[in-house]
Amino acid sequence: MSQPTITEQLDEPRVARESGRKKIEWAREHMPIMTAIAEEFNAEQPLDGEVVAMAMHVEAKTAVLTEVLAEAGAEVAITGCNPLSTHDDVSAALDANDAITSYAKRGVDDDAYYAAIEATLDHEPTVTVDDGGDLVMAIHEDYPELIDSIVGGCEETTTGVHRLRAMDEDGELKYPMFAVNDTPMKRLFDNVHGTGEASLSSIAMTTNLSFAGKTVVVSGYGYCGRGVAKKAAGQNAHVVVTEVEPRRALEAHMEGYEVCPMDEAAAKGDIFVTTTGNRDVIVKEHFERMSDGVVLANAGHFNVEIDLDALDDLAVSREEVRDGVEEFKLDDGRRINVLADGRLVNLAAPVALGHPVEVMDQSFGIQAVSVREMVENTDEYGAGVHEVPDELDKEVAEIKLDAEGIDIDDLSSEQAEYMDSWQHGT
Ligand code: NAI
Repeated sequence: MSQPTITEQLDEPRVARESGRKKIEWAREHMPIMTAIAEEFNAEQPLDGEVVAMAMHVEAKTAVLTEVLAEAGAEVAITGCNPLSTHDDVSAALDANDAITSYAKRGVDDDAYYAAIEATLDHEPTVTVDDGGDLVMAIHEDYPELIDSIVGGCEETTTGVHRLRAMDEDGELKYPMFAVNDTPMKRLFDNVHGTGEASLSSIAMTTNLSFAGKTVVVSGYGYCGRGVAKKAAGQNAHVVVTEVEPRRALEAHMEGYEVCPMDEAAAKGDIFVTTTGNRDVIVKEHFERMSDGVVLANAGHFNVEIDLDALDDLAVSREEVRDGVEEFKLDDGRRINVLADGRLVNLAAPVALGHPVEVMDQSFGIQAVSVREMVENTDEYGAGVHEVPDELDKEVAEIKLDAEGIDIDDLSSEQAEYMDSWQHGT
């Protein structure tokens, strides 16, 4: 295997391992869902004999998922799903686990990024766990011989699910994939609250600036955009939303936000956050209208939402003015600040920690039980994108309510019958 593991790439792997281990332990202590699932997985070994390849943001919470899959009996090979989101110390701590090999390293170039993805595939996975779809793409394009022995996989994020659905519609997706992103336990919490909280805290820590009294432009009022808008409003910002979907635009309007096209918003904003999963959301004509000193951040999966090539063309100089903040100076003296190279700010900024632990406990809880389901009941799922069965989502929600000490009511048999019937009227 030519691609070195993280341990082989670090000067002081032992020091890194110790620091990473502390981060993982802290996260795990605050993840009651993963703790409950780990207990079951340790006892029942549902992944015995499986080889899991993962391409995810390698930080402490993901490490807990990785170790729980290993505790379930799997051999795991992991790498990053973004060149800037890996925490090398966490990656090193994972690599020290006999059942896990980690190739994830922060700050790698494109060649090393894809070489690390290929290295995970050299382990001949039977299950894939992706965040953004890069593993599935690499398998279909370069390693089709693996497809026959893969039982299935899971996809963590909206952009990855879009890519899989597009593949599926073209008849090109050759094994079953769960759209884990689309479960209520993931999307209603991780995309909304996780992205909202983590993006704003990363922007605040990276810039040391306040949201209060500023105009924050949120592009895309989907699950992530809703969270960013709500949390920004909660920090006393004036929120402006840009959208292309009429119902989502109306929803933003009814929440009390100003809604307008980016052409107008460009001139109004102090801070811009893109959350569309689309490309070219902020482009040349928008940079031309922006005020001096604006801050641009992206929270969508790929770094294509802000057209940095166009900004580079307009700029007379570029300078890193703070760690994670690059200032583009235009010829009229205006300065436009871009955070984290336009990569998802809550994970790729130098100080970024990703979503709060509690949120990822839910996301990875549903991820873990989805892997178990795919392995145990693979015959029920043909090639293509599948919804995660609702009872699994409820199972994870019940574990969480239990851990929080929250009781809820049960339907009486009369209520259940009433809800299922069509005969009852006025
Ligand atoms: P979504 O599909 O619910 O929302 C996207 C919204 O953007 C839609 O309402 C769509 O109409 C709108 N949109 C598309 N093109 C636009 C344009 N040119 N201008 C304005 N609006 C536009 O998707 P979701 O779940 O909110 O995810 C958005 C992105 O964030 C995806 O790339 C996803 O993978 C990523 N994501 C990032 C996370 C993070 O940690 N930063 C966490 C979860 C998802």
